[in-house]
Amino acid sequence: MSAETPVCQLLERQPAGYHGWLWVAPPQDAWLEQGQNILLSADEAILNAWRERGRKTASPLNKTLGESVLAPPGVVVFWPKAHALGEWWLLWLCAHLKPGTPLQVVGENQGGIKRVLKVLAALGLGCQRLDNARRCSLFGSALERVALEPDAVWKHFDAEGLTLASHPGVFGHGKLDDGTRMLLAHLPNELVEVTSKGCDVLDMGCGDGIIATWLAKRGHRVCAVDVNGFAVEATRRSLAANGLDGEVLAGDVYSSLGERRFDVIVSNPPFHQERSIDHGPASRLIRDAPMHLRSGGSLILVANAFLPWPRLLSEAFGDVEILADDRRYRVYRAIRR
Ligand SMILES: C[S@@+](CC[C@H](N)C(=O)[O-])C[C@H]1O[C@@H](n2cnc3c(N)ncnc32)[C@H](O)[C@@H]1O
Repeated sequence: MSAETPVCQLLERQPAGYHGWLWVAPPQDAWLEQGQNILLSADEAILNAWRERGRKTASPLNKTLGESVLAPPGVVVFWPKAHALGEWWLLWLCAHLKPGTPLQVVGENQGGIKRVLKVLAALGLGCQRLDNARRCSLFGSALERVALEPDAVWKHFDAEGLTLASHPGVFGHGKLDDGTRMLLAHLPNELVEVTSKGCDVLDMGCGDGIIATWLAKRGHRVCAVDVNGFAVEATRRSLAANGLDGEVLAGDVYSSLGERRFDVIVSNPPFHQERSIDHGPASRLIRDAPMHLRSGGSLILVANAFLPWPRLLSEAFGDVEILADDRRYRVYRAIRR
C-alpha cells in the first residue's frame, strides 16, 4: 500500500524505516496503519479507525500510558493547522518521553511547517532539515526536558455570562464564534427559559462547551459530543468552571450514543477537517438526526448561509424553518414529526 497524503509520501521515501515509532496526530492514511507503529492522537475518528483494525493507539488525554508509548525508538509529529497545538504536542512529548528520543516533524509548506524551526529553537532543541518534497518538509531533532509545562496552555475566558475553558486546536480558541452567538440569541423559548422540567439536549460538536454550558445553566440535561479529545476535556472544564453538570463524550458524530434519543439536538456543525473542506460529519449529523430525536423533537443548527444544509435538512425531515438570517449565518430548525 502506497502513501496517500503528501506528508506520508515524504515519509515513505525516508531511509529511517520508523519501526515502532509513534505517529503523533497524523492524518488518516492507510499507509501509516500497515507498519508496527503506535498512534498517538486526540482525534476520536482516527483512534477508532486504528482500534477497529486491532492497532495500538494512545491518547495524550489518557492518564495511564504504557512503556511502548512512553519509550518508543522515535516520534514523528504531523504539524497541525493550529501552530499553538503543534507547540503543545512538542511540550507534551518533551515532558513525557525520554530525553534523547529522536523527533521528526513533518508538514505541508503551505501550512507553515517552516515555523517549526523557530518553535524548536525557542524550546532550546536543535534542528536540521531532513528532506523536502511534495510541497512538504521534514525536520529532525531530539526530545529534551524543557521548562514549560504542557498544561500551562489551558486558558479561561468569559462569554455570555459563562466561564469557558480553552485549549489550542479547540474551535474558537478563546473567543465566542459569531455564528454560535447568533444561535444562542435565537433559540426557541422552551430552551431559553429556566423550567423545572428541562429538556434532554445533545450539543453535537461541542468545542469549548459554550452551547452545552449555556443550556445546562438554564436547567437542561445536557450531553455534549466532540471528535476532538481536547474539545471534550475543554467542555468538561467549562461545565465544572460554572458549577454545572453534564455528560461529555468523545465520538465521531453519533458513534458513541448507540440508539439514544433527545428532545433537542443543537449544533454549530463543522465543515472543515484541518485545512480541507469536509461536509461529511455535518451531513451525517443531519441525515441521522431523526434517529436520535424523540417524536416532536427538533434539530437546531447555525451555519454559514452558503452551506448546503437546507437541502439535507429537507431530505431528512421534510420541512425546515429559518429562525434567523443575517445573510452571513442562518439558524435552522427541523422537527421530527
Ligand atoms: C464549528 S465548531 C463548533 C464548536 C462549538 N459548539 C461552538 O459553537 O463554538 C464544530 C465542532 O465540531 C467538532 N467536530 C468535527 N468533526 C466532528 C465529528 N466527526 N464528530 C463530532 N464532532 C466533530 C469540531 O471538533 C468542533 O469542535
